[in-house]
Amino acid sequence: MDELLKIKEEALLKIDTCQDLKTLNDLRVFYLGKKGPMQAAMKSMKDMDQAQRVEFGKVSNQVKQELTMAIDEKKNILEEEVLNQRLRSEKIDITLPGTTIPEGSIHPLNRIKEELEELFIGMGYSIAEGPEVETDHFNFELMNLPQGHPARDMQDTFYINENLLMRTHTSPVQAHVMLEAQGKGPIKVICPGKTYRRDDDDTTHSHQFMQCEGLVVDKNITLADLKGTLELFAKKMFGEKREIRFRPSYFPFTEPSVEVDISCHNCEGKGCPMCKYTGWIEILGAGMVNPHVLEMCGFDPEVYQGFAFGIGLERVAMLKYGIDNIRHFYSDDLRFLNQFTRKE
Ligand code: PHE
Repeated sequence: MDELLKIKEEALLKIDTCQDLKTLNDLRVFYLGKKGPMQAAMKSMKDMDQAQRVEFGKVSNQVKQELTMAIDEKKNILEEEVLNQRLRSEKIDITLPGTTIPEGSIHPLNRIKEELEELFIGMGYSIAEGPEVETDHFNFELMNLPQGHPARDMQDTFYINENLLMRTHTSPVQAHVMLEAQGKGPIKVICPGKTYRRDDDDTTHSHQFMQCEGLVVDKNITLADLKGTLELFAKKMFGEKREIRFRPSYFPFTEPSVEVDISCHNCEGKGCPMCKYTGWIEILGAGMVNPHVLEMCGFDPEVYQGFAFGIGLERVAMLKYGIDNIRHFYSDDLRFLNQFTRKE
């Protein structure tokens, strides 16, 4: 009996001071298992008389029960501790700032291009493209600028050889489209793309820039159609209140030719530095397709008329977003580009 109680005291102490679940389980196996000291003490039962044996059996069962309970209790405590420790170590601080995933944005020139495409596709136009390396024939001759024509000086050119050049405008795409149509209208296209001129780069000039050409060829096309179309363009790009005005101008490939101004979106026409205090901003060149161009490109000018316009995308973007230096478009500076996020 003493032995039993001694075992119990010793076991309870060990259980109480036990620090982890593995040791606790070892204690359970040792004290309550078949090879433990309890079992060994039971062996002495065979030398006892009936009453002693009953008493011994009772006490040993009590001891077992007590130990089982103590172990279970301790197990709960240890398990809870393990859980708490895990919760502590796995705690997530939701107040920490998140990791931002860098997101690309659409280049402002592409954005203007997409806006134009959307507008003109909505009016039934399709999009045409042409090569950036052109022949002199397409870039100049078919645009009514024969060799030696003084207006060639308006477009300083990068020549690759005597015949090949970097296109100075998107107008040669007009010629490609018309020739493909083989004298049959209607044609309604816009031709956005890169263009090149031997300009000295400064805040408003870049040797590489973008244009979007527009060409409509059909029967009964007049200057009024051009005006209506460009009015829609002005309103879509610069706001509903915009008005446009035509000033006479000269391009060899259009006759008559006009320079198109829009009422200043910055000051609503009152006068500001953006419009040089005139209330108007020069935005693009346009005109009725020169009959000679129609003819060279396979259309009968007695039957067909057309209008054409050429929009400078940098100029539109600079005016629309208030950009003061054309170099920003080509410097790949993320501080600039990040201002044109997808969300906006
Ligand atoms: N191609 C002309 C330029 O680059 C612009 C233009 C296009 C003018 C179409 C009239 C008609 O200067």
